[in-house]
Amino acid sequence: MKRKIDPWDYAGRLLRALPGGILLTAGAEGKVNPMTIGWGTLGIQWATPIFTVFVRENRFTRQLLDRNPEFVISAPLDGEGREILSLCGTKSGRDLDKVSAAGLTLEAPEAVTVPAIRELPLTLECRVIYRQAQDPGAITPENTRRFYPQGVDSSFCGANRDYHIAYYGEILAAYILE
Ligand SMILES: Cc1cc2nc3c(=O)[nH]c(=O)nc-3n(C[C@H](O)[C@H](O)[C@H](O)COP(=O)(O)O)c2cc1C
Repeated sequence: MKRKIDPWDYAGRLLRALPGGILLTAGAEGKVNPMTIGWGTLGIQWATPIFTVFVRENRFTRQLLDRNPEFVISAPLDGEGREILSLCGTKSGRDLDKVSAAGLTLEAPEAVTVPAIRELPLTLECRVIYRQAQDPGAITPENTRRFYPQGVDSSFCGANRDYHIAYYGEILAAYILE
């Protein structure tokens, strides 16, 4: 069952869960791919509730988001899903079907075509309404050194040479899977 929520009532839980990881699921052409994210913002722009994600240029997820501009955010309510988040944050959907490898249960979505994930019940369904590649020249030298080491190949799951693209997702549905 999907219990409808007001996303603002869960803002604290979502944002506090982020440093440990939550899931961003994208999908296109029959492929569903969850990726762990640690960065995200919740807010309002164009009078619209928005969750924004930041995806490095060469993530497989980026390819899917560009083919189908929708995503689902799935967060733990109580620290659950650590193994799932570890797998989905270190393996690429290019090489592995992460849905079966992590034993995920997909749930039919309400407003998008990408499924929700039962194991991480706090869910936002989002439609991308804006995207923007970072301007490397506008990032502080400290953050450039720390987050964009130019000697590290794009395939590395942690900080690497690639900059991020921000995908702004209009929140179309918010619920807890019970
Ligand atoms: C805790 C954690 C947080 C992460 N946050 C992000 C993020 O916000 N953006 C990003 O591009 N990659 C992030 N990653 C790395 C991706 O999850 C990782 O590279 C993943 O394998 C990419 O999957 P894909 O190639 O299937 O898209 C994070 C990894 C972990 C473990």
